[in-house]
Amino acid sequence: MHDGRVVLVTGGAIGIGAGICQAFAESGASVSVADIDGDAAHQLADKLKSDSHRAVAVTGDVSVLKDAKRMVNESIESLGALDVLVNNAGIQPTASYMNAEQMDEETWDRIIGVNLKGQFLMAKFSIPHIRARGGGTIINIASVQGLQSQPLVPAYAASKGGSLSLTRNMALDFSDDNIRVVAINPGTIDTPLARGAARAFGDEEELLQLWGSAHPLGRIGTPKDIGATAVFLASEGASFITGESVNVDGGYMALGAWAAGTD
Ligand SMILES: NC(=O)c1ccc[n+]([C@@H]2O[C@H](COP(=O)([O-])OP(=O)(O)OC[C@H]3O[C@@H](n4cnc5c(N)ncnc54)[C@H](O)[C@@H]3O)[C@@H](O)[C@H]2O)c1
Repeated sequence: MHDGRVVLVTGGAIGIGAGICQAFAESGASVSVADIDGDAAHQLADKLKSDSHRAVAVTGDVSVLKDAKRMVNESIESLGALDVLVNNAGIQPTASYMNAEQMDEETWDRIIGVNLKGQFLMAKFSIPHIRARGGGTIINIASVQGLQSQPLVPAYAASKGGSLSLTRNMALDFSDDNIRVVAINPGTIDTPLARGAARAFGDEEELLQLWGSAHPLGRIGTPKDIGATAVFLASEGASFITGESVNVDGGYMALGAWAAGTD
């Protein structure tokens, strides 16, 4: 059963993106899995199709203009339209944990390029198609680190703060087109990215447990938690929400700085 809506999810092959693809497919939408990892994108699209959903895989790098344009065009060619863009692709390489004085230009440019410029480029090429449908939704996956920073993540924190500003700006610029632009700030979510960071800094399971206990709800989140929020934000029920972000963080941002070091 398809509801006729078409959703493109960048970084859709694994982790949070895969959770978002799955949730939209289950809601009845057609899904374009857009990812730099072509094999993983095709694998998920094939799985969705074998579960009777409508899906396609498109491959490219969101930070490269011609790739962004081609991914949107290929998606339109396969699925016929675009109603919802989810700008989820993002990177936080473990080797990039350093302060601004230590960070090299290439690392800065790559993180800002994928996490922020990629959201701009994908929106730029998606907007005409969403407008042609009479409106729709752009969902930017930002982070709690766009609101508060941890040490040693200058480019990542800046990219996520930028994503929240871009969300507010595009919400204003495209409100007349009935295009709502919203953001999600995940807390720690169980994905290959989070597990890679845990492995880089200690024992994987122990650290995930520790990070989970720092969230008031006592656990880290799942890609399913983010997928469910994304489906809601693209739904009729969210039709008066734009230019805003939602923390899906188990209460993490509700903790004050005074809480550091307490149980
Ligand atoms: N996992 C967390 O704890 C967490 C917390 C807050 C925010 N986020 C954000 O959520 C998003 C997804 O994170 P995740 O944890 O699922 O990451 P992940 O590394 O597990 O998966 C990211 C996906 O994006 C794809 N990708 C990477 N660079 C790309 C590019 N240039 N073009 C196209 N695709 C690309 C990867 O191939 C992969 O499929 C990111 O924007 C991340 O910053 C994650």
